[in-house]
Amino acid sequence: MFLSHFEQLAPRCPVCRTHALRLGEVARGEGAEVREGSLLCTNSRCQREHPILDGIPILVPDLHAWLEPQQHWVLRREDLSPFALSMLTDILGAGSALDRELGNLSTYAEAHWGPREPSFPPLVAETLDLLPSTPRAPALDLGCSVGRATFELARRTGRLTTGVDLNFSMLRLAEQIRRQGRARYPRRRVGIVFDPVDCVSPYEATGQVSFWCADIAALPFAEASFATVISLNILDCLAAPHSLLSETARLLAPSGQALIATPFDWAVSASPAGAWIGGHSQRTTPGEGSSVEIFRHLLPHYGLRLLAERESLLWRLRVHERSTMEYSVYAAALTKSERPPESIGAAFTGQKELPGA
Ligand SMILES: C[S@@+](CC[C@H](N)C(=O)[O-])C[C@H]1O[C@@H](n2cnc3c(N)ncnc32)[C@H](O)[C@@H]1O
Ligand SMILES: [Zn+2]
Repeated sequence: MFLSHFEQLAPRCPVCRTHALRLGEVARGEGAEVREGSLLCTNSRCQREHPILDGIPILVPDLHAWLEPQQHWVLRREDLSPFALSMLTDILGAGSALDRELGNLSTYAEAHWGPREPSFPPLVAETLDLLPSTPRAPALDLGCSVGRATFELARRTGRLTTGVDLNFSMLRLAEQIRRQGRARYPRRRVGIVFDPVDCVSPYEATGQVSFWCADIAALPFAEASFATVISLNILDCLAAPHSLLSETARLLAPSGQALIATPFDWAVSASPAGAWIGGHSQRTTPGEGSSVEIFRHLLPHYGLRLLAERESLLWRLRVHERSTMEYSVYAAALTKSERPPESIGAAFTGQKELPGA
């Protein structure tokens, strides 16, 4: 974490949500960067300590709930040989936390940074091109994963661009690429067999990029902090998809631009069906359950206005050497509307409790 980025973004405490943070301890620093240390809440009644690990500030409301399920990712050694890692993967077995972590890295690192025609950069270009003018800084990439769109956004803005995600192993890979311009990731060949793959970043100036660990449901940034806010393929991953619309509107500066791209691939493992934007209540919703129509319908209620949209953008994710998933992505460029947010009528909120939930 660069101290200059911390000062520019002036994050506030995600626990009390009222007070600014200040730098606490620097346990390991390198020039203007803090690699390990802490940020402290300035509220005397809160005084919460937030870690900085591997150069990534961790600004989540419940640190225990964040760390407990991914402690092995945070603590995992990076110096294991492919041989030793393969033995451990066999011992822990298919479906283990290690298998899931390697699988996630395999799919997203391959899509973002794969050495042969990675599949994600064309989607990033097509969606960013939808913005009516060159994206401006400060810019925010919500759910950045291993960071490709954050780097591309930074290249286009030329200034401070922040990627935010909750998954530490993905953020760590993104941060490694930022610092070293290269990284090694595991690529799933078959089953729990992974091969190490070296990738090289095409981006040169990365002093403007920073990666932060935070929850989209409790972002540590003040209102109107960003000129550009993007979120690619995140909407349907959230427990509360509507919160992405309200957070995008809250964080966006008055003349700012936002981008939301999504395949509307709803699943109850991510969010309850009644919270989905479309995909339920066919008989009673605009567009008979159409996600795109309901998404458009909701925008004014969150103080957002549609600038441009595109349909059927290809998003491909490799699972293993004989399996690739393909999605058809909808993308919308948005701005804050000049009119105040319209209140959502009692008849239609797009959210409800479903009998089977
Ligand atoms: C489907 S991936 C998309 C990643 C990337 N934007 C892309 O298009 O390749 C969803 C990402 O959102 C992150 N994510 C899910 N819920 C989140 C939350 N509540 N706060 C922050 N990140 C979240 C996941 O860790 C994952 O990296
Ligand atoms: Zn606090």
